[in-house]
Amino acid sequence: MLYSWLSRTKKRNLELGGHVGFDSLPDQLVSKSVAQGFCFNILCVGETGIGKSTLMNTLFNTTFENEEASHYQSEVQLRPQTYDLQESNVNLKLTTVHTVGFGDQINKEESYKPILEYIDAQFERFLEEELKIKRSLFNCHDTRIHICLYFIAPTGHSLKSLDLVTMKKLDSKVNIIPIIAKADTVSKSELDKLKIKIMSELVSNGVQIYQFPTEDEAVAEINTSMNTHLPFAVIGSVEEIKVGNKMVKARLYPWGSVQVENENHCDFVKLREMLLRVNMEDLREQTHTRHYELYRRCKLEEMGFKDTGLDSHSFSLQETYEAKRKEFLVDLQRKEDEMRQMFVNKVKETEAELKEKEKELHERFEQLKRMHQEEKKNLEEKRRELEEEMNAFNRRRVAAETLMGQALQGCSQQPFKKDKDKKKESGNATK
Ligand code: GTP
Ligand code: MG
Repeated sequence: MLYSWLSRTKKRNLELGGHVGFDSLPDQLVSKSVAQGFCFNILCVGETGIGKSTLMNTLFNTTFENEEASHYQSEVQLRPQTYDLQESNVNLKLTTVHTVGFGDQINKEESYKPILEYIDAQFERFLEEELKIKRSLFNCHDTRIHICLYFIAPTGHSLKSLDLVTMKKLDSKVNIIPIIAKADTVSKSELDKLKIKIMSELVSNGVQIYQFPTEDEAVAEINTSMNTHLPFAVIGSVEEIKVGNKMVKARLYPWGSVQVENENHCDFVKLREMLLRVNMEDLREQTHTRHYELYRRCKLEEMGFKDTGLDSHSFSLQETYEAKRKEFLVDLQRKEDEMRQMFVNKVKETEAELKEKEKELHERFEQLKRMHQEEKKNLEEKRRELEEEMNAFNRRRVAAETLMGQALQGCSQQPFKKDKDKKKESGNATK
């Protein structure tokens, strides 16, 4: 109601009678921002040893922590490091994130994934903070990646398929600035050809790289001209040599030297100007308004939130939440019913299986019982036969013993008679 009343109210221009003070608003903003400090997060994507750490050291004129990667990583990893830097009275919380082991695996199909996941994880972290009831977006450390420096190897005639695939996967998530690393290792004419080839390949493959903004008049000219110099061919070094009476960063070779900050030698200065001096705020803004916004929209749509319903009427957050909650409860109920039905079916199945098993066991038991009875009968039969045999044997034995007894008796009477006869015969002889 209030909103429609306000939208119907006409705006009128009024003259101020004198200075009231709100023209200091930009200064208030500046001092507030300076007091708060700034965050800037750089992602360096490039194969092992391509010069990522050296370039970061050269860009910020300092020495960051550096741990050399081995070429034997089984998968790509991301190494974030955060530093507090100060220039004049401006505090910068800088996070550098380096890919470790990028391009070292035999199968490079999945190399982009950890990078994508890292970028999404930072968006998710910010979204979670935004959706909190008690949120503290101003003092939370914003780790969203503002710029991806994509290091292209100077060797070869054009981009590798790994470069194309990775940049294509990342271009809707992050601002990409492609750079040709170790530009001192290619001749000027080769470098010019390589730059043209890279740009035409990026265009033909539909890879969206970051374009320096040309809307703001103050930077339109320089940014328009810099857009034509992409990809920047850079050299990194923290070594210093004396040129005239000045110490300059350079790389020394047996045949001479190449100066990092000499625009005739490489595009390092262009990169530093564009990245840090002219477009740092635009990179932060693009990250928030374009890349994060896209992530947030997709995520909220995934969660069921939308701005308009089917009838094109605008939804309130409350209505959307209620609708989503109802949908969720219906879904939950459906799942619960399904689970219950599944459980009942499972119980029935198990019951039937158990009954079947019981029947089988019962049959087996009956069969065994029958077998046992059969066996018992057979054994009884055998026992009876054996007993009969035993009885018959005993009878025969008794008969035999009786016979033997009689025979023995007969034998013992006969020698006695013989003795009597002998005595009678010997008496007769003496006579
Ligand atoms: P990892 O972190 O191990 O993946 O390596 P990196 O990409 O950080 O490379 P680093 O900066 O450690 O440099 C690797 C080697 O390349 C070092 O010997 C550097 O001196 C050399 N190097 C770095 N930048 C350049 C450059 O612009 N030109 C030439 N010729 N060599 C460079
Ligand atoms: Mg390194």
